[in-house]
Amino acid sequence: MRILITGATGQVGRKVVENLKSDSSLEVIAAVRSKKKGESLGVQFVELDLDRIETFAPALQGIDRVFLMTGYTVDMMRQSKAFLDEAAKANVRHVVHLGACGDDEATVAHWVWHQLVERYIEWRGFSFTHLRPEQFMQNLLGYSGKPTVVNGVIEQYFGQARLSWVDCEDVAEVAAVSLRDAEAHNGQTYRMGYDAQSLNDVARILSEVIGQPFRYDSRPPEEFLAKVLAAGADPAYMNCVYQHYFAYAQGKIPHPDQVFDNFERLTGRKPVTWEAFAKKHADTFRAGFTRP
Ligand SMILES: NC(=O)c1ccc[n+]([C@@H]2O[C@H](COP(=O)([O-])OP(=O)(O)OC[C@H]3O[C@@H](n4cnc5c(N)ncnc54)[C@H](OP(=O)(O)O)[C@@H]3O)[C@@H](O)[C@H]2O)c1
Repeated sequence: MRILITGATGQVGRKVVENLKSDSSLEVIAAVRSKKKGESLGVQFVELDLDRIETFAPALQGIDRVFLMTGYTVDMMRQSKAFLDEAAKANVRHVVHLGACGDDEATVAHWVWHQLVERYIEWRGFSFTHLRPEQFMQNLLGYSGKPTVVNGVIEQYFGQARLSWVDCEDVAEVAAVSLRDAEAHNGQTYRMGYDAQSLNDVARILSEVIGQPFRYDSRPPEEFLAKVLAAGADPAYMNCVYQHYFAYAQGKIPHPDQVFDNFERLTGRKPVTWEAFAKKHADTFRAGFTRP
């Protein structure tokens, strides 16, 4: 069983590789853009650049199952379609797709893009598992190359919304389970958000765990947009993120704090809570407190 992991150097993909690499019944192949990064993963790797179609066929040769993730760019639509077209030609059977938040009625643009990719996966005839994580807890470690906690202040843009959160490592574990046992997870959509907290609650939890006074500063979304664009992020994608902050703050996102009870059934353990996440990343949060 040969499994190709795209985004294998990213937050989620790297953990999917870690989850699967010790399973001797599987051949895990990391798809990477950089040889140097590939060598750090401890598994076979192949070159795959989603912007270079000529890299697809060699990477997909003999592959049975794929973990498909894309980065924070509107190019995800074009990249996913081209990749799936080539995967169909290569007789890939099962696709586990990393999507985003929301139910089928979602109207937030970048969530909808992911749902259109889901529909394309189905239309192309793959067996599939769709993952729909809510907010990554890792966003509070940093986002788009910038730290989120500066001098103990959590700078975010959600107003007073209460949000549903998930640890990327939990997302990766469900991806791994779905890749390993594709038949059991075929046709499933797993929404993933396991701890509902406002950012004031998160600040309180961090203060208790780290022993320093964290606080949430609800910043204007304009500040977010200026910051991420200056860091070189994709304007189309980030404009959608910018817009969705207003929707959250104005209460226009339905059930933003919805949590799900599928994780223990899928993995046999409890999902990570904010308290556990704060403990796991205590050093990073502590550094955030002293960051000027
Ligand atoms: N942040 C959230 O709260 C949240 C919530 C729900 C869903 N999501 C979804 O999660 C996904 C992002 O996951 P992540 O945080 O794990 O991403 P990430 O850490 O930013 O990693 C991106 C990965 O994609 C690779 N990549 C980027 N462009 C590529 C290209 N042209 N060809 C091949 N590989 C490419 C990167 O490789 P390099 O190492 O070479 O750059 C890296 O491995 C997005 O689709 C987002 O919508 C995020």
